[in-house]
Amino acid sequence: MKYTLMHKNISVADVEIDEDLGVITNIDIISARDHLPVGVVHQLRHDETVDRYALNQWWAGRSIPASRMGVNEALEVLGVSSTKQLITKCLGLSLSDHYWLRPYNSNITWEAVNFFDNDFSDDIGDVLFGVNNKNVGFDFVSPDNTSDGNLQKRWKIIDGKRCLLKSGSAPYSQQPFNEVIATMIMDRLGIDHVPYSVTWIEDKPCSVCEDFVTKDTELVSAWRVLQLRPKANHENEYLHYVSLCKELGVDIVPALDRMIVLDYIIANEDRHFNNFGLLRNANTLEWSGAAPIFDSGTSLWYNKTASRFVANDIICKPFKKTHGEQLRLVSSFDWLDISKLNGIEDEILNVLCEDKAVRYVEAKRAKAIAAEVRKRIDALEVVSASHTSYDVSSSDGDVEDNASARYI
Ligand SMILES: Nc1ncnc2c1ncn2[C@@H]1O[C@H](COP(=O)(O)OP(=O)(O)OP(=O)(O)O)[C@@H](O)[C@H]1O
Ligand SMILES: [Mg+2]
Repeated sequence: MKYTLMHKNISVADVEIDEDLGVITNIDIISARDHLPVGVVHQLRHDETVDRYALNQWWAGRSIPASRMGVNEALEVLGVSSTKQLITKCLGLSLSDHYWLRPYNSNITWEAVNFFDNDFSDDIGDVLFGVNNKNVGFDFVSPDNTSDGNLQKRWKIIDGKRCLLKSGSAPYSQQPFNEVIATMIMDRLGIDHVPYSVTWIEDKPCSVCEDFVTKDTELVSAWRVLQLRPKANHENEYLHYVSLCKELGVDIVPALDRMIVLDYIIANEDRHFNNFGLLRNANTLEWSGAAPIFDSGTSLWYNKTASRFVANDIICKPFKKTHGEQLRLVSSFDWLDISKLNGIEDEILNVLCEDKAVRYVEAKRAKAIAAEVRKRIDALEVVSASHTSYDVSSSDGDVEDNASARYI
């Protein structure tokens, strides 16, 4: 079927979509080149044509990943064979950016359909969370059709605000509590972040955070920024990203310094290139800077038994293979006041040993986590006190090319 790819009320391109395959089969007239999704213009040609493969990669990235927990069961209930088929059922609308599909020659406006202003159905979220009480007659108009990430999640309007609810994973369901602990650490250190709290759904812990994207300012992931041009021979992934941001007018180094320090403290294992990025004004296309830090839950030894905490087998992303090496990329610790973290261990214990939480993360494990965090803060203090500049272009310990990106 033919659609116009829209950016708010701007017609960007006319496209043909095979809805069974969930694929863009043809790109017709491009009417607003500047408003195309970031990084879909042909990199290897100089004629600035749109790369249909790249546009399809962007498009596929709008669908729920096949690796999402419980997605096969959900698709079965919905009677749909692939998550790609769900996108057009909500006109491709999302709560993380402002792209959508308008049926060709229709005159629907952004105001009439966007999920920032207009209510949406709970049906898809219910099915994704396995709490549906209907098996037919689903209302597919929901931003849950276009949400990314592996954990079970849903958008919900709570007190008029668009909120993202996200579960944890077996065996400890620790991610929602970790989001709260990361929030506390970033509060104390003055790092710009999305605040998370915990709620309980059918006795399972979930994190809740508000939508940080607004009607005017949208999220563009680091992964999309990296698609703007290929990495030069002399660049590693860190320099590639820093240079591209600079080309867009954003000095990203201070925000990366803070993200790397946070991830060191909480031993984050999943800061891939879709878990951070930039914000831009969707109307003027002006870049506003780094997005606030979100998705820090895959951390704090979330899936390891306490006996493995000391094994030091923490995965590190996105730039270096170990957090120690990644910490060397930090340009300045001048903003870091380690004393602000005094007593954080008690707060961590409060979160993990709260009445219901203790059923998932037992007290002994919680104490071990708090003790490990303290060790990492102490080590960070030493590193930051003896900080000397490091050659950020060094490729020592680099994560293999793009290995930390989520492949679509
Ligand atoms: N508060 C928010 N406001 C707007 N968009 C958000 C928000 N939180 C997350 N997103 C978007 O939703 C995507 C999925 O969310 P998130 O990364 O928290 O899920 P996840 O399942 O933990 O992901 P992963 O697979 O990386 O573990 C993010 O990559 C981002 O694009
Ligand atoms: Mg994520």
